[in-house]
Amino acid sequence: MKIRPPTPAEHAKVAALLRQAFPDSTHEAQLVAALRSHGRIAHEWVCIHTNQVIAYLAFTNAYHGTAVCGLHLAPLAVKPEFQRQGIGSELLRFVLRQAAIRDKILFVPGDPGFYRKFGFAPCAMPLCPFPEYPQDHHQSVQGGV
Ligand SMILES: CC(C)(COP(=O)(O)OP(=O)(O)OC[C@H]1O[C@@H](n2cnc3c(N)ncnc32)[C@H](O)[C@@H]1OP(=O)(O)O)[C@@H](O)C(=O)NCCC(=O)NCCS
Repeated sequence: MKIRPPTPAEHAKVAALLRQAFPDSTHEAQLVAALRSHGRIAHEWVCIHTNQVIAYLAFTNAYHGTAVCGLHLAPLAVKPEFQRQGIGSELLRFVLRQAAIRDKILFVPGDPGFYRKFGFAPCAMPLCPFPEYPQDHHQSVQGGV
C-alpha cells in the first residue's frame, strides 16, 4: 500500500470513495469538492492499493479569529470493503508523523473511541458548531504524537 497526496486525476475517485464510506450523507463529498474549488485543503493523502484509492484523509486550516491556530482533520474515510483491516489507523499514523503535521495543533470532530488511540483527547474549545452531537466528540492533539 502506498500513501501519498492524490493526483488531480484521482479527485473523482476520492469523491466516489467518500460517497461509499458515508452512504447516508452527501455532505463529505460536497465539502471536499467545495474546499478544493476554493483552494482550502491544506493537506491531503490517499492510500493506493492495486491502483485503487482505498482511503482518504484531509486537513484544513483551523482559525482563531483570522489567525491560523492549527489544522482540522476531516474527513478520514476508508473504502467499505477495506474497513476494519487497520488501513485507517495506518494512514492516520503515517500522516501524524509528517513534518507538515507533527508539530501542529490538530482538531477532529470524531469518535473519541477511535481517535483516543492516536493521542487525541476531548477539548472544550473550539466548541463544536453542531449542537446535535455530543460535545465530547470534538478532540484535539498537540504535536509529538
Ligand atoms: C472510521 C474509519 C476511518 C476507520 O478506519 P478503518 O480502517 O476501518 O479502522 P481500523 O481497521 O484502522 O480500526 C482501528 C480501530 O478502530 C476501531 N474502529 C474502526 N471504526 C470505528 C468507528 N467508526 N468507531 C469506533 N471505533 C472504530 C476498530 O475496531 C479498531 O479497533 P481495534 O484496534 O481495537 O481493533 C473507517 O471505518 C471509515 O471510513 N468509516 C466510515 C467513514 C467514517 O465514519 N469516518 C469517520 C471519521 S471521523
